[in-house]
Amino acid sequence: MLARLNGKTCLITGGGNGIGRASAHLFAIEGAEIIAADYNVEAAEQVVAAIKQAGGTALAAKVDVGDEASVDAMVAAGIDAFGKIDVLLNSAGGGSTRDGPVTELALDEFWRTIRVDLFGTLLCCRKLIPEMVRQGGGSIINISSLRAVIGTHGADAYTASKGGVLAMTRAIAMQWAKHNVRANVMAPGVVLTERVAAMIKEDNPLYQKSLLGPSQPEDVAALALYLASDESRKVTGAVLRLDSGASIY
Ligand SMILES: NC(=O)c1ccc[n+]([C@@H]2O[C@H](COP(=O)([O-])OP(=O)(O)OC[C@H]3O[C@@H](n4cnc5c(N)ncnc54)[C@H](O)[C@@H]3O)[C@@H](O)[C@H]2O)c1
Repeated sequence: MLARLNGKTCLITGGGNGIGRASAHLFAIEGAEIIAADYNVEAAEQVVAAIKQAGGTALAAKVDVGDEASVDAMVAAGIDAFGKIDVLLNSAGGGSTRDGPVTELALDEFWRTIRVDLFGTLLCCRKLIPEMVRQGGGSIINISSLRAVIGTHGADAYTASKGGVLAMTRAIAMQWAKHNVRANVMAPGVVLTERVAAMIKEDNPLYQKSLLGPSQPEDVAALALYLASDESRKVTGAVLRLDSGASIY
């Protein structure tokens, strides 16, 4: 059977940990060439070493997605190595315990979150869209959150940034469909990556609303694989909730 991503090159930001790491491994198993880009380049290098050991093809890159020159260098390194980039998965980012209700959150945390999660996603899309147009198409996969879909409490900077990611993805989908560039956004609920497992306890309302229990990074990677592959060739502008039923609770 043909692997689902044979012939595709996939750039994954935040590829050193969590959802990005799980996606890098799964995409590589499905035949993709991987660029695992992360601020934590040692983590990205470990992912790349494991992929290579399993017979796959991968490259690690250091990037700060909130810095334009750094994003430019990451994309240049990827194109230099593989000649093209077919799939962009923007997984760099995440909230922190310094977030909170608008009346209480640390204001510098607001700007940190906006810079990485929203502006970083914008910069990567901005750089990759012209490349994808040139090569006749591509798939952009952004990550929003359940928090942008339903009302939640306690992480308002993060919620605002993920609302921006959701709306921006829809706008990208509208404007570049004619060039066969697809853009979709995943809205996960609680995903037990190492970072989130340390932050969210079982008494958290979002955790308790997860009707099927919290997700694992591999659950999100499976959805990302669908969006990266040609199986989703008619899917664009979609907001795909992967929240264990929390949004219908
Ligand atoms: N885990 C969840 O419950 C959950 C739920 C909804 C959405 N998300 C979103 O999914 C994405 C991945 O989350 P995760 O839980 O896998 O996080 P994670 O912390 O496990 O991995 C994120 C990676 O991003 C990297 N990173 C952080 N800032 C960066 C920057 N400026 N430039 C480049 N890399 C940077 C980190 O080094 C890390 O390796 C995030 O956007 C997060 O907001 C996560």
